[in-house]
Amino acid sequence: MRKNIVAGNWKMNKTLEEGIALAKEINELLKGAELKCDVVIGTPFIHLASVAGVVDAKKIGISAQNCADKESGAYTGEVSAAMVKSTGASYVILGHSERRAYYGETAEILKTKVELALKNELRPIFCIGEVLEERENNIFFEVVKSQIVESLFGLSADDFSKIVLAYEPVWAIGTGKTATPAQAQEMHAFIRKTIAEKYGNEIADNTTILYGGSANPGNAKELFSNPDVDGGLIGGASLKAADFKAIIDSF
Ligand code: 13P
Repeated sequence: MRKNIVAGNWKMNKTLEEGIALAKEINELLKGAELKCDVVIGTPFIHLASVAGVVDAKKIGISAQNCADKESGAYTGEVSAAMVKSTGASYVILGHSERRAYYGETAEILKTKVELALKNELRPIFCIGEVLEERENNIFFEVVKSQIVESLFGLSADDFSKIVLAYEPVWAIGTGKTATPAQAQEMHAFIRKTIAEKYGNEIADNTTILYGGSANPGNAKELFSNPDVDGGLIGGASLKAADFKAIIDSF
């Protein structure tokens, strides 16, 4: 059966020193805890190796928030999937709406990034989600379906089964305006059906689909209690160890 995961996305927050301190604090809170989900922390690139060195790898997986769409070479400022892997990270967040909106990441670029991540044995946490206007115009199912089809449906069934999906309605990110549990469940069920139509029920049933967008200790339990919501991708609330732990404890 599919795994439940609570993943933090620190975005562009915390100096190296602060990030190590936060990772240590989370690690400390999880010591001796009986976890009902996998825990992942998604840090800036420069934190990855240090954070991997201070957390219990059996309890906490490490994720990058991006990787390059090229293997190696003269691409100043870029970080490859192989480099991410070499830090001790095992996941990479790809397709976040902030990267799509502010850094021009297209479905085609993301397809390449996903392939390179998989080639380097990183599990992509692939983000999808509609903007407010698309929700209001009632085209949110089509939008999310095309994001999945265009970047992921070229994968073999074996490769697709390594993907974690994160439904993050853009209007809910950092706004304090969470999707209702019913809205999240409706979309997650649609995503699972879309996967089943392409790869069959077994792979669809085994795919972890996270919800992201203003999830916090107060709403996580209700969101996670939906049958097709398998955890969360947490932004702001992952920057406070106690809040992140409370979300983990919502399972
Ligand atoms: P917030 O939890 O801050 O809304 O961010 C969600 C998100 O974008 C996680 O990737």
